[in-house]
This record gives sequence, C-alpha cells and structure tokens, in this order.
Amino acid sequence: MRLRRNPHAKERVREHPRVVMEPQRYAGRWRTHFGNNHPLHLELGTGKGRFLSRVCEISPEVNWIGVERVEEVLLQALIKADETECENLCFLWMDVNRLEEAFGEGEVDRIYLHFSDPWPKKRHAKRRLTYRTFLDQYRKVLRPDGEVLLKTDNQALFQFSMEEMEEAGYQIVEVSRDLHHSPYAYGNILTEYEQKFSAKGLPIYYLLARRPH
Ligand SMILES: C[S@@+](CC[C@H](N)C(=O)[O-])C[C@H]1O[C@@H](n2cnc3c(N)ncnc32)[C@H](O)[C@@H]1O
Repeated sequence: MRLRRNPHAKERVREHPRVVMEPQRYAGRWRTHFGNNHPLHLELGTGKGRFLSRVCEISPEVNWIGVERVEEVLLQALIKADETECENLCFLWMDVNRLEEAFGEGEVDRIYLHFSDPWPKKRHAKRRLTYRTFLDQYRKVLRPDGEVLLKTDNQALFQFSMEEMEEAGYQIVEVSRDLHHSPYAYGNILTEYEQKFSAKGLPIYYLLARRPH
C-alpha cells in the first residue's frame, strides 16, 4: 500500500497511546496489557484498519492487535481506531518477521492475513506472509488449536498459501473461492482491499486453517 510520505507520521505513530512500542516487553503476557483473559487475535499487514475498527466493536470479548510496518498507513488505522471507543484494540509498528519477539509461545488464538501483498515474482516468494518461514513463526505463537484465516483476491497467492500450509502441516478446515457467495460470508467484515476488489466484481478467496501439532 502506497501513501504520500508524511514527515510527521513517525512521531505521531510513536506517541500514539494505541501503539505499543517495544512490544517484546509483553511477549508471553499480553493479557496483562489488556487487563483480562480474553482471546488474542492478530491482523498482520493491517493497512488502513477498516476491519479492526469495526470488529473491535462487534467482538469486545476479543483482544485485537494490528501489525503494520508502514507508518503513514498505520496512522490511518489509528485515526479510524480513535473513532471507536474500543479498549480492546492496539497496534504494533513493526515487520511481521519479528512476530516471535513480540509474542510468547502459544499465546495467540487467531491470525488474520487480509489481502497480503502477493509478491508475484518467484524470487520474492520469501516475502509472502504465507511463506514457510512465516508459517513457522505463526505455529510457534499460536496456541495448539489456534487458527490462521486468510482472504485474498489473488488466485496465485491463494494457491501458494494452500500448498505452503499443507506442506507445513496446517489443517485446512474451510475453503471458498468465492467467499461472498458462500456460507462463510455470514458476519464477514470487509477490509479496504476487499471493498475495492469486490466492487470490481472479483471473487474473494478464503481459507481457515488450524495450526500444525
Ligand atoms: C495490500 S495491503 C492490505 C491491507 C489490509 N489488510 C486490507 O485488506 O485492506 C497489505 C499491507 O500489509 C503491510 N505489510 C506487508 N508486509 C508486511 C510485513 N512484513 N510486516 C508488516 N506489514 C506488512 C503493507 O504495508 C500493507 O499496508
């Protein structure tokens, strides 16, 4: 996602109360940060935050964390989050490849991968958020029956993700190649990218997978 450079974005993100700087301080004890024992759900590559600003209100019984590395984009998500009164939502300004530093083993209940960058060139495959090294990190931070939920408009990324997940021992429990016309559409919250692609009439690919044992 590209946004115009904003010279103040870094400072605004760093000082925002919803951004947890040095998240490794909470690794293994995120529930103390939220002050409750609710399940922990992460959205990786949050973008402008449409999903989280809605789901935090619809599901107050979940602790929500968005992870985004681009400060200008994260700032948009923070502005949206501040339009809510959700106390169950915070953000990490970091690269997903540092997930293991920020979360303890088995601490996370569910990971959402929404319209992750497809990185179509083969030589960039390692950057895809469903490449095996990322899946291995997710396995470590997810609880034993924790889940990864993926949505994308990109058929090649979807195929790649299914293959990587199967190879890594994830159990794929739900699949749709047209989410919005499937039984899984009920309760689905559209992300920014999902709005854009479905407005063009493109099908949305969806899967839910369980962590390998
Ligand atoms: C295509 S956008 C999708 C945004 C949003 N999830 C949606 O569905 O509208 C992907 C987002 O993931 C972020 N991203 C990509 N790779 C990342 C990484 N390794 N760590 C953190 N954020 C990442 C990008 O900066 C971008 O904002």
